[in-house]
Amino acid sequence: MSNKPLTIGLFGFGCVGQGLWKIAEQRSDIQIKKICVKSRHKPRPLPESYFTYNPDDILSDPETDVVVELIDDAGAALQILKNALQKGKHVVTANKRMLAENLIEVLRLQRQHNRAVLYEAAVCGSIPIIRTLEEYYAHQEITAIDGIFNGSTNYILTRVLDENRTYAEALHEAQKAGFAEADPTLDVEGLDPRYKLSLAILHAFGMVLLPEQIPVAGISKIGKEEVRFARQNGLSLKLSVGAVKEGNRIFAYVLPQFVPVAGALAAVRHEFNAVHITGSYTGKQLLVGKGAGSLPTALAVLSDIAALHHNYRYAYTKYANAASLEFTTDVSVKAWVRFSDGSGNHWQAFTKIIGGAANASGQVVVGELPLDKLMALQEQNRVTAVLIADDCTISTLPADATGVMQQVA
Ligand code: HSE
Repeated sequence: MSNKPLTIGLFGFGCVGQGLWKIAEQRSDIQIKKICVKSRHKPRPLPESYFTYNPDDILSDPETDVVVELIDDAGAALQILKNALQKGKHVVTANKRMLAENLIEVLRLQRQHNRAVLYEAAVCGSIPIIRTLEEYYAHQEITAIDGIFNGSTNYILTRVLDENRTYAEALHEAQKAGFAEADPTLDVEGLDPRYKLSLAILHAFGMVLLPEQIPVAGISKIGKEEVRFARQNGLSLKLSVGAVKEGNRIFAYVLPQFVPVAGALAAVRHEFNAVHITGSYTGKQLLVGKGAGSLPTALAVLSDIAALHHNYRYAYTKYANAASLEFTTDVSVKAWVRFSDGSGNHWQAFTKIIGGAANASGQVVVGELPLDKLMALQEQNRVTAVLIADDCTISTLPADATGVMQQVA
């Protein structure tokens, strides 16, 4: 591609789209020619002449080099991507759901049409994780990626645990700031970071793992008991993601996790995200940055657009060379599990019990158990499961009201 300004057709004009517009206005190397939006009636900060309601005005425009897709609807986004590639345009997108649910198809379409699809903004906002995995880490084996991949839930947990807000207030603030998805269930139930993890796994390990294969729980069942336990033990609470490679087996999860207050992840607050990358040569490294918000995410989009100036596209080196990797849930984890149904004895699922308590309204068990058993437990309505990071020191366990521990012993 030459050095003439790239002509952009933009789909969507929400939080990130408007951020991109603001940045593009200050630059001479890109020009947003048209913006395709759905609703004719929303008030918008630009004159009507910039907008179109017909996707073809962008897709069939011979002057448009790049389609930037920043809409919510994953189905419509896939259609835009297909049509754009077919018309010979490169695509930059932030649509983690569309990408994660259609990984194989997106890989195939890029090859078929010999055009790039870039998506730095889809994972961890402003943290340059995809290109870092693609380029810098292509030359070593990665054994783990983990961290915080959702800005809204991190914002909510920070406000609730450290700043005494209620869950509802904090969620409302995250929505007002433009961090949350249009449907915030995707954030609080962990689905958004699960899409992102699926993309990171492709670039880190070369494995296609569809989002629905990855065990997930969000933060909506966290209650005052978990907050109290965290405070009593000098712990913080994060919605953590992780993917670990042991030999040719990979396990992955999106789950709430207690982490030490003095550790690196606890210091990642509000809408910030973090990615630990553990590699065979480098050991563990940490990237931290704003994971949501208009300008930080728009910068990631801009960076992809700029990369197209020098014909950049993902090489998918790890995917191309991937040995036969297997997905597993056969792994033991340390967890806090709270049962609020007041009935039954639940510790049988555990292989090792560190502590526990019961009273008339429920039970808490802290211990080790297989990941798939933990997931089966937490799927029940009234069960809250939280991982406990290996470096946590637990000094105060829940008060043992009825002698669960004696019964276990
Ligand atoms: N809703 C997402 C988040 C936006 O809160 O992280 C950025 O992907």
